[in-house]
Amino acid sequence: MKKVVLITGCSSGFGMAGALAFARSGWRVYATMRDLSKQDRLLHQAHEEHLPLEVKRIDVTDQSTIDQSIKELTQEAGRLDVLVNNAGYGLIGPLEYLSMEQIQDLFNTNLFGAVRMIKAVLPIFRRQKSGHIINISSVAGLAGLPLYSAYCASKYALEGLSEALVFELDPFQIKISNIEPGPFDTEFSKGSVKYGSSMRNHDSPYHVLNDYFFKRHKKTQYDSPESVACLLVRIAQTSHPQLRFPIGKKVKELVLFKKFMSISLTQKVMKHLMKVPQKA
Ligand SMILES: NC(=O)c1ccc[n+]([C@@H]2O[C@H](COP(=O)([O-])OP(=O)(O)OC[C@H]3O[C@@H](n4cnc5c(N)ncnc54)[C@H](OP(=O)(O)O)[C@@H]3O)[C@@H](O)[C@H]2O)c1
Repeated sequence: MKKVVLITGCSSGFGMAGALAFARSGWRVYATMRDLSKQDRLLHQAHEEHLPLEVKRIDVTDQSTIDQSIKELTQEAGRLDVLVNNAGYGLIGPLEYLSMEQIQDLFNTNLFGAVRMIKAVLPIFRRQKSGHIINISSVAGLAGLPLYSAYCASKYALEGLSEALVFELDPFQIKISNIEPGPFDTEFSKGSVKYGSSMRNHDSPYHVLNDYFFKRHKKTQYDSPESVACLLVRIAQTSHPQLRFPIGKKVKELVLFKKFMSISLTQKVMKHLMKVPQKA
């Protein structure tokens, strides 16, 4: 019997690449997205490669769409082996100028969206005595980055949630893993990121940091999302996966820094390497 995977946020990026990679590896794939008018790119590629794929609507901030899709999946497939919590977006800007609404919306998707999905699949996983939750976290869930405070907070929260769940779910043979990508070439880097109101304001007290961000952003080299998609399939096929899978340029080095150096030394090295401005 084919193994079954459900992925959130499949209209682009890691979600779309992951859905295709699982289908190529013979999995039964439930590719979900919040806006079904965006399904054509995924379906076209699947059709080209003769890959079976099922698309369902899930907005991770809307419980009724989650309940409906899980109900349909249970009726159709009768089981679920892997949940990939991928849906999310970035919010960039000095915390002082992010509105509470922007920050709460971010958490509602990046953290509470994943929580809603996990709560929805746990009864299935517990009944089966098997299942694997894979969260797309971020390097921003492992290290604080300038102007990413709210985004970092949402991803650190996902890391804490996962670390605790290992203990809670182990007795039911349910596994949990997080992938922590660095910069990858998806809509995230092109347009899906949201900015705080002060980011393009030259009168902002943070304008030096803001200008620094845009200059750095232009120079950033992005990896292909395919490598994250391959990693997803590999993790899903591992019997005893580890909790964390950092991936991307300089991410492993950063993890080593944090492991072996004090936080103050790590931050000094990061400021130096990232050339973060020291004066406003
Ligand atoms: N690319 C990177 O450099 C990078 C690095 C580290 C971590 N990440 C994480 O990777 C994940 C995927 O992002 P990506 O890089 O693949 O960017 P992306 O191409 O922008 O994909 C994000 C996906 O999430 C979906 N989404 C957003 N809000 C949603 C909601 N409320 N309900 C359901 N789906 C929703 C988007 O749908 P719409 O098309 O409808 O907006 C889209 O399908 C995110 O969690 C992101 O934080 C990305």
